[in-house]
Amino acid sequence: MTLQTVPVPLGEKSYHIEIGSDNLEHIGEVLETFAPVSSAVILTDRNVQQLGYAQRVAENVSLRGIDTNILSIEAGEQSKTVETANALWNALLEDGTDRRSVLLAVGGGVVGDIGGFVAATFARGIRFFQVPTTLLAQVDSSVGGKVGLDLPNAKNMVGAFHQPLGVLVDTQTLATLPDEQFLSGLGEVAKYAVSLDADLFQFLEQNTESVNKREPETLQKIVVACCKLKAGIVAEDEFDTKGHRVLLNYGHTFGHVFEIMSKFTLLHGLAVAAGSIHAAKLALKLGLIDETLLNRHLALFKALRLPTVLDTEIDWEQAAEIMQYDKKTEFGKLCLVLPTGPGQCQLIDDIGTKLVAES
Ligand SMILES: NC(=O)c1ccc[n+]([C@@H]2O[C@H](COP(=O)([O-])OP(=O)(O)OC[C@H]3O[C@@H](n4cnc5c(N)ncnc54)[C@H](O)[C@@H]3O)[C@@H](O)[C@H]2O)c1
Ligand SMILES: [Zn+2]
Repeated sequence: MTLQTVPVPLGEKSYHIEIGSDNLEHIGEVLETFAPVSSAVILTDRNVQQLGYAQRVAENVSLRGIDTNILSIEAGEQSKTVETANALWNALLEDGTDRRSVLLAVGGGVVGDIGGFVAATFARGIRFFQVPTTLLAQVDSSVGGKVGLDLPNAKNMVGAFHQPLGVLVDTQTLATLPDEQFLSGLGEVAKYAVSLDADLFQFLEQNTESVNKREPETLQKIVVACCKLKAGIVAEDEFDTKGHRVLLNYGHTFGHVFEIMSKFTLLHGLAVAAGSIHAAKLALKLGLIDETLLNRHLALFKALRLPTVLDTEIDWEQAAEIMQYDKKTEFGKLCLVLPTGPGQCQLIDDIGTKLVAES
């Protein structure tokens, strides 16, 4: 299948997302268009390094005569800390990284977030480039320029907006992704479809089997559709101040509660999937959608093997309390992104917590 490109129009900070299959070796060619590049620091995590992706990127970049160095962090959310950032800043310093260097993040959302943050802050900002290797990172975290790290009790609390030079997606890397991680990314894909894109919704319904088999052509179509949606919204609201980006958060208010209640053992995209179904049930109760649409949501999520309910009992009183702290709650009034039609959603304000608990 041919390569596809999705533009992210952000004035001087505009960039392209190149999406293909088996196109990892394109990286050197792409990087060359950003000359002069004095050196490339390739940040990855131990799992991704073992799979050889960072090495393939490094070898290809070196072919263009650019010095490369691979830095590897422990895999997982526990690496998104100020301690990791500190270690990386010092490694960059030792490595002689300068303002003409580029940091390439080769990995999932963790590598992209911390790599982008280190790039945003080292020497008051060096360039960075994203090579996302999880489905979640390919359809979501690598696009939009939000980078950052966690504080011990607050996820993504410290960060910056630092747009990448570009993004290169090789859907072939998804072949090695553990099933649960693939499903977590698929949770975000299904979210985009049911809340923002009626065509993608229908495409998924008609292609569940090839999605589940991770067929490269199908994955490419999905990643292109999701990147277009996210790029469109980011272009209208780069710094998340105008409220447009809130529409990316369908299923997230409930999802966030489920993540907290599971003490973060439930993967984000799976929590979002179950959260989307709760939001759709609430929308039915409020008369925003009809039963046929709710049933379409349920059937699609089941066919994709996404959770529609949680295994654990939910303490709705505690849930309501957590929701009060949600960033979409204004003056104590709960606001939720709810579906209003196939591939459509709206921010609905002032929803009673009692109604939420009954969903
Ligand atoms: N910046 C944003 O806009 C944004 C948006 C959404 C999520 N996020 C962040 O993204 C992070 C989650 O990202 P994630 O789900 O990619 O998690 P992750 O980066 O932890 O990756 C998940 C696991 O998959 C492994 N992995 C990565 N690529 C692989 C491959 N091709 N084959 C096999 N294993 C592979 C990783 O080593 C890791 O163990 C969270 O920290 C979240 O806050 C950021
Ligand atoms: Zn999400």
